[in-house]
Amino acid sequence: MEVLQAESGSDSTLKRTLTRTNLIALGIGAVIGAGIFVLTGQAAAQYAGPGVAISFVVSALACGFAGLCYAEFAAMIPIAGSAYTYAYATMGRIVAWVIGWALILEYLFSGATVAVGWSGYMVNFLASFGIEIPAALSNAPIAFDAHNNMSFTGAYINLPAVLIVLVITVLLYRGIKESANFNNFVVILKLLVIALFILFGWAYINYDNWVPFIPENTGHFGQFGWTGIFRASSVIFFAYIGFDAVSTAAQEAKNPQKDMPWGILGSLVICTVVYILVSLVMTGMAPYTGLNTAAPIAVAIDMAGEGLAWLSPFIKIGAIAGLSSVILVMLMGQTRVFYSMSNDGLFFAPFAKIHAKFQTPYIATVITGSIAMIACGLLPIGILGELVSIGTLLAFMIVCLGILLLRYKHPEYERPFKTPFFPYVPILGILSCGGVMFFLNPIIFVICGIWILIGLVIYYFYGRKHAKY
Ligand code: ALA
Repeated sequence: MEVLQAESGSDSTLKRTLTRTNLIALGIGAVIGAGIFVLTGQAAAQYAGPGVAISFVVSALACGFAGLCYAEFAAMIPIAGSAYTYAYATMGRIVAWVIGWALILEYLFSGATVAVGWSGYMVNFLASFGIEIPAALSNAPIAFDAHNNMSFTGAYINLPAVLIVLVITVLLYRGIKESANFNNFVVILKLLVIALFILFGWAYINYDNWVPFIPENTGHFGQFGWTGIFRASSVIFFAYIGFDAVSTAAQEAKNPQKDMPWGILGSLVICTVVYILVSLVMTGMAPYTGLNTAAPIAVAIDMAGEGLAWLSPFIKIGAIAGLSSVILVMLMGQTRVFYSMSNDGLFFAPFAKIHAKFQTPYIATVITGSIAMIACGLLPIGILGELVSIGTLLAFMIVCLGILLLRYKHPEYERPFKTPFFPYVPILGILSCGGVMFFLNPIIFVICGIWILIGLVIYYFYGRKHAKY
């Protein structure tokens, strides 16, 4: 802890330029993305009906408990490594390594997942101007069916996804301030577009679409009824991922002790309100059965008829811009976690190298971008998305556990922000994240297990020998 706090206070590392507003914008930038623009409709159509609004409340609670624990840690140890660093300080090196390794699933792969969503919206948007991107160049070559059987789609690569990751990697290479400015602009744009949808869409709500609000269970676990609400909440959990990425910018915040909790909790609260409103308007405008599409907001607008047709292109532009900022913040988060792990000697040293002119961890940025390009070019969105969720849930649970342990082991540490209702909040955080995990596709546990195993091998041959602490 002492080493970490000294490190967070030193000026020799990353550039401190981010304000409280920047941090909240960073959170919103990372959170509002493929989850709301793509998954909400699918969750409503397949699992929850209009009750998906309740699913958003359920997921928000799980994220809220974890968010409070993140806020306590981020104010106490404002270091770029986020959950990895908190685990190091509380549970030791090996747990820290496993979490750092799991965070790659969260940040790097969510950058890739959202790039695939971005590609879908972009291809659709270009098609409305008569510009057709061939399917062979805008889809993953690999697909998985509902029974996890792998097949080949005949496509070569998802080229638009690769290109957006490339552009964002260049931006991140050039600097945090440039990246933050771009992010602020995009966040305003995406909130504006969503506000337009809520305000204008509200008038087109057909209240009959909300009846029944929770459609009756079909007899299958997770298909409508209350189990459907919970199944949907595990699917749309993805929509909340990203508020924790704020904590990876701790070393670039001007006043991290005060502003970290604002950035994390502020963005979470704003996104929760936005999500509940959007899901209400969406399921009010269109019968939930018709929302199982890649662009459910656009479908809801089309249902409203000519009156709202003008809004459709704005929604697409908002989604395209909005998804770019998610990719940006997630990939940035990944480079900062790599930076922290290398700084501690656990990961290969070049990942902590800072560019002389741009003051960014440029090698980590290039490698992160390259891996994300390979992943989004070749893999389908379903597998990527669930990998992201499992990595994130693991990290959330460890952070909650860390808060519990540290309060008992070191009650004397100075905590600029304290999680209220201790110990209930961290305990509920662990339980609720575990509950969300329970609903994930079983194959994901296998892939995650293999991933952790690979991580442990690297740790054994490298990290263990080079660790500084
Ligand atoms: N929460 C982010 C999204 O919905 C990852 O795209």
